[in-house]
Amino acid sequence: MAKVVVTGKIPAGGLARLKAEHDVTAWESDDAISRTELLAMVAGADAIVSLLTEKIDGELLDAAGPQLKSVSNVAVGYNNIDVPACENRGVLVTNTPGVLTEATADIAISLILMATRRLGEGERVIRAQEPWQWGMFYMLGMGLQGRQLGIVGMGQIGIATARRAKAFGMNIAYTRRTPLEDHVIEELDAKFMTMDELIESSDVLSLHCPYSPATHHLMSENQFARMKKTAFLINTARGPIVDEAALVTALKSGEIAGAGLDVFENEPAVHPGLLELDNAVLIPHLGSATVETRAAMADIAATNALAILAGSQAPNLVTS
Ligand code: GLV
Repeated sequence: MAKVVVTGKIPAGGLARLKAEHDVTAWESDDAISRTELLAMVAGADAIVSLLTEKIDGELLDAAGPQLKSVSNVAVGYNNIDVPACENRGVLVTNTPGVLTEATADIAISLILMATRRLGEGERVIRAQEPWQWGMFYMLGMGLQGRQLGIVGMGQIGIATARRAKAFGMNIAYTRRTPLEDHVIEELDAKFMTMDELIESSDVLSLHCPYSPATHHLMSENQFARMKKTAFLINTARGPIVDEAALVTALKSGEIAGAGLDVFENEPAVHPGLLELDNAVLIPHLGSATVETRAAMADIAATNALAILAGSQAPNLVTS
């Protein structure tokens, strides 16, 4: 039996599979584990099953000890893990791709609709019991039909978002580091563009790239200045891809029309400037938050950890 440390609450199915084979220590509270508690808890672990809220760095790996074999993130994004530090210590890292694609694309589309049709703003008017009545020019938004959706990072989630947007009559453009398969280009009638072209020509720009030093503040003052004044920015990827202070300025000054954000630069903190803006739709990192998706994520993370502990090839290894 190996020692498996699970750093936060995860759905029962995945946890039960780990417990069936190993000695599991799991953080049971709804509150996130503190750093001190985390460092103490991982001591002696052979495998760590981590949440995206936990920073897995050299200090933590050293606290775990040299017997540690794996870190299995219950997330597709793994920017909370210092992968080179794991590699240096021979620790394998896994994530949970695939199972959260549709749920996250649903949230991207929800944000596109909320931002372009001013749904948050409208709801706030009703809830505040402010006077209102139907008016020819009251709270007009932007229609999606014939507009260009620019996808930054056309991976699984970007493609799933594009499919949905196509059904709304949007034209799809994208950037991607490697060529997209022909059948996807054909299905979506998707047009490749450079990042600059995409920024300048999109009516809605949706971020779906991983966060890394290369994508830190990918969207900042310069980029907002080059977007259409009528355009919207959507972020369901990771907060620090966007320079939040620069976004506040761009939204305030009318440099861009609006934004829909599921993720924030210093989560769970939100830039106070955003809170004051009616043209920002703000939701609390709900991309993968369905019962089915979270169960599938825990199940895959368990599969990954169990495979490594059994000495076999883990299906979802990631490398630096
Ligand atoms: C959620 O943000 C994830 O990366 O799984």
